[in-house]
Amino acid sequence: MELSGKEIAQMHKDYVMQSWSKSGVDALAVEKAEGIYFWDYDGKKYADMSSLLVCSNLGHELPEIVEAIKEQADKMCFMAPAYATEPKSKLAKMLVEAAGAKDYQRVFFTNGGAESNENAIKMARMVTGRTKIFSCYRSYHGATLASSNASGDWRRFAAEIGGAGGFIKFMNPHMYRDGFNKGVDDEAVTKKALEDLELQLRYEGPQNVAAILMESIVGANGVILPPDGYMEGVRALCDKYGILMICDEVMAGFFRTGKWFGWQNFDIKPDMITFAKGVTCGYVQLGGVIVNKKIAKYFEENVLQCGLTYSGHTLACAAGVAALNYYIDHDIEGHVAKMHVIVETFMNEMVEKHICVGEARCIGLFAAFEMVKNKETREPLQEYGIPGKWMPWIFAELKRRGYATFGRENFIEICPPLIITEEELKEYLPILDEVLTKVDEKILSGEIQ
Ligand SMILES: Cc1ncc(COP(=O)(O)O)c(C=O)c1O
Repeated sequence: MELSGKEIAQMHKDYVMQSWSKSGVDALAVEKAEGIYFWDYDGKKYADMSSLLVCSNLGHELPEIVEAIKEQADKMCFMAPAYATEPKSKLAKMLVEAAGAKDYQRVFFTNGGAESNENAIKMARMVTGRTKIFSCYRSYHGATLASSNASGDWRRFAAEIGGAGGFIKFMNPHMYRDGFNKGVDDEAVTKKALEDLELQLRYEGPQNVAAILMESIVGANGVILPPDGYMEGVRALCDKYGILMICDEVMAGFFRTGKWFGWQNFDIKPDMITFAKGVTCGYVQLGGVIVNKKIAKYFEENVLQCGLTYSGHTLACAAGVAALNYYIDHDIEGHVAKMHVIVETFMNEMVEKHICVGEARCIGLFAAFEMVKNKETREPLQEYGIPGKWMPWIFAELKRRGYATFGRENFIEICPPLIITEEELKEYLPILDEVLTKVDEKILSGEIQ
């Protein structure tokens, strides 16, 4: 017996524990998805303008990935990690080549982003014999114990109860929020941020620090673009003190920023690259860690004390091979470069037009509006860490108009599937404009104070 949309939603409410939420809340029942769209059980269509959780880079139900999964399922759904399978071997090679075969050597596969960071942290500790892991306050690295502890935003708090040792946070620069201007103050901000970081490393004892873990472009905390020279400076500090640099590419990877990986926008090479999301676009869950030659060599001589029943899951790797082939064969890099111009132009117009938009940040199709109550003072529409009603109101208004996306305190993310067309952008971006106009009206009328 098929369930109705209402029954599905009710059973979800009654039986499912929902991520980052109190239980027993309403959830929209979704019946099907295709391309950049999904539909609820009343037939209402939504444009997926955030690629769900910035993972559906190639949209939904892409025939090439669906067929690859079906073909693999007919042959062999799963084989244990110690066996070689065609999809796993192929995907590992493709990932190493995407990162750069001159510098990188091997991949450890996981089931998602958190596990990738978890295992990269373990590897960093094994390789260096050091304990401490530096990471940024303005960051998110996943919800397992170590990944949570490495995450900077409030989502780590529950994992800190009882804790996991050795996790040190530093404040990564956010030019707009810190009162500076990107393109103007980069040099000074970079200099100060690196001096602060080096001092903090000295106070912690750099000889105790195994790794600095960073998102190459901070995603879920607002698509924060680092000041020029900052990432290169962090790399130099790592080199100076024998610290490993781990770039978390879970959200920024797979052409989200216009390149295979976000770090390729800078003049750096991390020692380890963690990935998930866009590797399969969520068709089957998969993540992993790509390691450079030095770390690969270490684990030729030492046992890798990491393991997962589903490491290199056959079906997931088949989806991954199909996704990576699609990125390459359909020149997603070139397409993102074209769509980026449309999104960036629109966003800059919105900054000019709306009093509620403080700043637009956009790299590839990874973008966010910084929302303000007052453009002069940059007072945020919603303060970090303080629940407010206006950001949820904005997301509800967008959804009502068939524009599905997410954001958090103070920013709206614009991260559509990378296959979005010019026509689709021109149809849906004006909806954002319309809702921003409503926010302006509420600021002017004094309803938003
Ligand atoms: C940068 C980053 N790292 C790690 C994760 C965790 O990934 P997962 O939810 O697959 O465990 C996320 C999830 O959004 C992320 O954005």
